[in-house]
Amino acid sequence: MNDFVYRDGVLFCEELRVQDIAEKVGTPFYLYSRNTLVRHFQVVDQAFSETPHIVCFSVKANSNVAILRLLANEGAGADVVSAGELFRALKAGIDPKKIVFAGLGKTAGEIEYALRQGILMFNVESSQELMLINHVAQNLDTQAPIALRVNPDVDPKTHPYIATGLKQSKFGLPMKEAMAEYEVAQKLPGLNPVGVHQHIGSQILESGPFEDSVQKISNLAKSLKLLGMDIRYINIGGGFGIQYTDEKAPAPDHYALALAPLLADSDCTIVMEVGRMISGNAGILVTKVLYNKQGEEKRFVVVDAAMNDLIRPSLYKAVHQISPVVREDGAGEVKVDVVGPVCESADFLAQDYGMPEVKPGDLLAVFTAGAYGFSMSSNYNSRPRVPEILVSGRKAYVIRYRETLEDLVRGEAIPQDL
Ligand code: LLP
Repeated sequence: MNDFVYRDGVLFCEELRVQDIAEKVGTPFYLYSRNTLVRHFQVVDQAFSETPHIVCFSVKANSNVAILRLLANEGAGADVVSAGELFRALKAGIDPKKIVFAGLGKTAGEIEYALRQGILMFNVESSQELMLINHVAQNLDTQAPIALRVNPDVDPKTHPYIATGLKQSKFGLPMKEAMAEYEVAQKLPGLNPVGVHQHIGSQILESGPFEDSVQKISNLAKSLKLLGMDIRYINIGGGFGIQYTDEKAPAPDHYALALAPLLADSDCTIVMEVGRMISGNAGILVTKVLYNKQGEEKRFVVVDAAMNDLIRPSLYKAVHQISPVVREDGAGEVKVDVVGPVCESADFLAQDYGMPEVKPGDLLAVFTAGAYGFSMSSNYNSRPRVPEILVSGRKAYVIRYRETLEDLVRGEAIPQDL
């Protein structure tokens, strides 16, 4: 459920008409509903209320500090993968004791920064990284709380680019090496093994893969405890799928019902790293039709947003629902490619997509763009990044301003002898 609804053919975000916001800020822009963000966080949080748990929002899904702040106010932690994401999470007021640091290429500088902030734990992805964290922690005369990210080798049945828990994947440590690595970690003075971690992929639409992998890591946690390790956290990662078009996505309580019993006797706090499920359907991208163009074989709707603004269709062939912001009665349906101005054939927001006839100047909403939308956007083709607007009831706030042409060259320098 979300707060983007049509009333008499006009799209609203909470109590505001999307077309009125477009009038004020111009297009394209990202638009988020505060209500939806909060509700989605609460639904996930409440689904696991019977079990001690921490919901860490995956900052890569949506990194805007205002959004992180409103989730922090709800009690969210954060899953970060870089010094930049850690900086954002802290700036937003997220409690460092609820921050987990994942990612397989942490630098010594990033490790030191996170240790000084007192984060909950590092999710460690290789034995060399384990050694480096030990070294940095010892230099700071401290101990780093760690979990090893294990690769449970389960098929999450999702797009290959976002599957992470298979044998072939670059992520995590093989399950069969995990025990030995933990024993190494236990002996190193700069490390304190406190958890186990997995993340098997993203946009997963069934609980089966989670059940298989959680069973494996909960068994691992038990074995580690028998070796005397003080394992207090089982981090089940993220990846809970959502509805983009007609997918059937399980609700959070479905996962809770399936997974909580597997973790019940673990005596551990469950950590979840949830991105898409919280912010995906809490945001849309609003774009304006520039031209209709009839090619020899295809009909194109050229809009002012492009792959640099939302790369998911180009990168994963992801299908997002696209509808006019104002629906005209009786508009005939046509099959079109919705394309942007970028000079790449892969620059499309939809292909062979059935949509009502539209004309230049019409506004379109690209739905389910609140996760991996703005956060993956770029300046390709020297296009300024678009603004982000947050609606709360009848109020709209600019939470990121549209970049200017000057912003595009900020940080660049022309050598004096040129
Ligand atoms: N934890 C870790 C370690 C992750 O790598 C990710 C996402 C998450 C949690 C959150 O996953 P979520 O709950 O949002 O599915 N750009 C792609 C998704 C890449 C996901 C990367 N890792 C997309 O647009 O579909």
